[in-house]
Amino acid sequence: MPAPSGLSGAALTAQALTGVASPRAARPRIGRRGLPMLSAIPLFAGLSKRHLRHVADLAEEVRFRDGTVMVRAGTPGRALYVIAEGRARVARGVVPIGRAIARLGPGDFFGEIALLDGGPRSASVVADGPVVAIRLMRGAFLKLMRSEPAIAMAVVQTLAQR
Ligand code: CMP
Repeated sequence: MPAPSGLSGAALTAQALTGVASPRAARPRIGRRGLPMLSAIPLFAGLSKRHLRHVADLAEEVRFRDGTVMVRAGTPGRALYVIAEGRARVARGVVPIGRAIARLGPGDFFGEIALLDGGPRSASVVADGPVVAIRLMRGAFLKLMRSEPAIAMAVVQTLAQR
């Protein structure tokens, strides 16, 4: 699967304008082969096999190169990301050149705030090295929050810490 950050020309310009690191084009869902990856992520660890399969049908795997702004401060939020592999830093500003306010690693998620409050992204999240992430579009994430109390609790606990 091509990396979103591997785009060039018009797609990169679109990324710079929208702050969204991946194109609108549909990506294959991670499907059943992604189940081991999903079940290793603490956010999904409490789910039954059936529910995990449901998440797998909704989720997409996306890959980012080092330095990619995966979500950009001030832009609308369309998706939640869970890091499967790699590291990221959270920094303030549309151009996130300042000090990191948080560091994220495997199992951590980001992008939940804009989905929940409907406002713009509160910070930028930048890949520190290559990142493999699970992406859940807004509708799928909100549906999961409603149907899976364990996921909703985990999200709320993390939100409170942030
Ligand atoms: P959102 O506002 O949608 O987009 C930026 C994301 O950065 C935000 O959701 C959180 O997931 C994450 N974020 C913002 N502030 C912090 C923080 N202080 N610690 C960790 N993550 C944060």
